[in-house]
Amino acid sequence: MSVSAPPRPGASSLFTSPVLRKVSTGLTGLFLIIYLTQHLLANLRIFSSDPQAVSKYGHTLEGFGLLLRGIEIGLAVLILYHVVMGISIWFKTRKARPVTYKRYQTKGAPSKQTLASRTMLWGGLLMLVFLFIHVAYFRFGPGVAEGYATMIHGEPARHYERLVTERFEQLGYVVFYCITMVVVGMHISHGFWSATQSLGLVNDRNREVLYKVGIGLGILFTLGFIAIPLGIYFG
Ligand code: HEM
Repeated sequence: MSVSAPPRPGASSLFTSPVLRKVSTGLTGLFLIIYLTQHLLANLRIFSSDPQAVSKYGHTLEGFGLLLRGIEIGLAVLILYHVVMGISIWFKTRKARPVTYKRYQTKGAPSKQTLASRTMLWGGLLMLVFLFIHVAYFRFGPGVAEGYATMIHGEPARHYERLVTERFEQLGYVVFYCITMVVVGMHISHGFWSATQSLGLVNDRNREVLYKVGIGLGILFTLGFIAIPLGIYFG
């Protein structure tokens, strides 16, 4: 009787193994939180006493040339991978449990089923729509050639303050951004908690702390990002 050899782990296991899928989605999510932290800090410069603070930062980044383009492509790949894996995990979970629970309770440790955890897919998809609109304007929208220019160290640079201010003088965008930023906060708060679990970092001693860190991070990101459209709209 011949016994067939067990399948060798290959590149495809990253897409087929549930454990690897969860771990890689968690890891990419944590990288995206790091990107968002620098993105938030960069944009909060709009409140600095220097009226060119954001443009100066953007101009410095542009100075990295090809390296910056490489980082941007890496970021796009990371986001795409995270989205595709997130959707596939969601569908797998639904297939495994086609009847949704009426009540989110377990007998053992707290199940941590919350509004944030139940809206990971829809929240994630809203963020994706947001990203298309956001990147189309802020990354690929008007620049120096279209007159959105300011002088920095004697060189023309993209006028980010004008871009940001013009956008958030419009109530529709302010409302859209505020709603999305609440979703971003919820996604991060559950995503952080879920990632620490997938990476095997949670134990009985740190469980509550990590859960609360996730919630704290979510609140900080929501408040930090919301401050920009609201601060500009209300002058
Ligand atoms: C009020 C909040 C926000 C403001 C004012 C803002 C502002 C900006 C600006 C000015 C850029 C252009 C940067 C450049 O061209 O180098 C940009 C790009 C970008 N933003 Fe935001 N952003 C905000 C929130 C967010 C959020 C919540 C996310 C993610 C969920 C996000 C993701 C991105 C991405 C992925 C890019 C493209 C990065 C690149 O290709 O360089 N932003 N944002």
